[in-house]
Amino acid sequence: VKDGLKKSLVGVIDDGTKTVRFVIFEAERSEELTAYQIDKTEVQPQEGWYEQDPMEILNHIKTCADNAIGQLTELGYSKEDIVTLGITNQRETTIAWDKYTGEPLHPAIAWNDIRTDSTVDAILAKLPDRNKNYLKNISGLPISPYFSALKMRWLKDNIKSVRRASRDKRLLFGTVDSWIVWNLTGGPQGGLHITDVTNASRTLLMDLDTLNWDPMLCRLFGIHRESLPQIRSSSELYGVVKDGSILDGIGISGILGNQQAALVGQNCLQAGQAKNTYRSGCFLLYNTGTRRVHSTHGLITTLAYKLGPNAPPVYALEGSIAVAGGAMKFLRDNLGLVRDVARDTELVAGQVFSTGDVYFVPAFSGLYAPYWRKDARGIICGLTAFTTKNHIIRAALEAVCFQTRDILEAMNKDCGMPLGKLHVDGKMAANHLLMQLQADLIGIPVLRAHTWDMSALGAAVCAGHATGVWAVDQWRHHATPNDTFLPTTTDDDRDARYTKWKMAVQRSLGWATT
Ligand code: G3P
Repeated sequence: VKDGLKKSLVGVIDDGTKTVRFVIFEAERSEELTAYQIDKTEVQPQEGWYEQDPMEILNHIKTCADNAIGQLTELGYSKEDIVTLGITNQRETTIAWDKYTGEPLHPAIAWNDIRTDSTVDAILAKLPDRNKNYLKNISGLPISPYFSALKMRWLKDNIKSVRRASRDKRLLFGTVDSWIVWNLTGGPQGGLHITDVTNASRTLLMDLDTLNWDPMLCRLFGIHRESLPQIRSSSELYGVVKDGSILDGIGISGILGNQQAALVGQNCLQAGQAKNTYRSGCFLLYNTGTRRVHSTHGLITTLAYKLGPNAPPVYALEGSIAVAGGAMKFLRDNLGLVRDVARDTELVAGQVFSTGDVYFVPAFSGLYAPYWRKDARGIICGLTAFTTKNHIIRAALEAVCFQTRDILEAMNKDCGMPLGKLHVDGKMAANHLLMQLQADLIGIPVLRAHTWDMSALGAAVCAGHATGVWAVDQWRHHATPNDTFLPTTTDDDRDARYTKWKMAVQRSLGWATT
């Protein structure tokens, strides 16, 4: 072992929408040592449907762990130095499987899939005034295709094998963390069927106060308690890997949804701190401490973390944006305007000084926060004979920034205290132009973390905390190195442009129904 000392390493399984990673951290120095990542196969069987293969996720985890641990050996460490594992995952994505065979009963339905449109309508029809916010007091969430309960209901309504499994009491439901843990800890041979509070808070079935499945919500969606996982904290020793893989014998002691994990990784552990993660979607979380803030401006209330079975739950307000980097991918794959997303969106958009008054609302599958309109559709407006692809690409970047401003406006109203700075991360944040536009369009400093994958880091902190190798109390004082982008625009300019953005959003609303 390097330096002759035994090191405390923490491994993290990071299952995102597009990639699976295995990352290894050295706890004492809070440093990423090595990582391995594989892209996932995207399946889009119909417009608005997004599926993933649950078995592929498991296979990729094995391959990533094998390779990352292989690289570890080259760095002078060994597998034995890994003291524990954390898991962080795309949230809401839902899997149904058979308790006795371990077989998935359907592909995973991804968080951004909108097939449950009519399921939403059927649930709304049962509620007073078809009020989409009717369950917000209990769950913190509006009724939207985004959340897992709708996907579970859809599976029961439409997939015979799911119905049969439910009837025969063989059905297990879970978000991706549950699927991974169940398989890692033995699968049909006694695998643990658990989830953590952060993931459970995205299902629309958990009561944010009791941190348990709410009987009324389960009844409303027709989901039986016995098919749901047990809800645990985000940091405790849940069990040990028993799947015959390279990870066999290592404990699992941290689970968090990837946006909550990024909040921990960014060290936003004080009430009033916020972070924004830019990936295919974009998610802004604002730590409200042990106080649960009810949003009246279109944000959702979510569990931020619970650092142990007896630790108090910490809450966050969240603004979820469905399409951020996804718009760049659209420009590349659907319109052919961009070849290399990372390079072109910065270079090409930087060749013009403005969008030439072009606005792009990428509401491909409706709009999430603060609008929650499943009937919105994408729109590019303000085109003239002078518009070039450069303007459109720049407008796509600005759309991410304007959507962030939408969230900040709502957050400031809900919290009554304007945010003074915004911590950011995520792969898309590597784009300098995007970061400068962001500071310019929200008018506060943007602090970009040097490490882009804050989700894996946050899961490592929680896993390390449970096993005593990563003290959260010290982590609170850890200064995250970052680059700062300061606003260079005037309030008037910023507000005038924002007014135009709101006009563009208005034009996108209701499009799917006309
Ligand atoms: O809520 C969805 C979110 O967790 C997706 O994460 O960044 O992997 O697309 P990402």
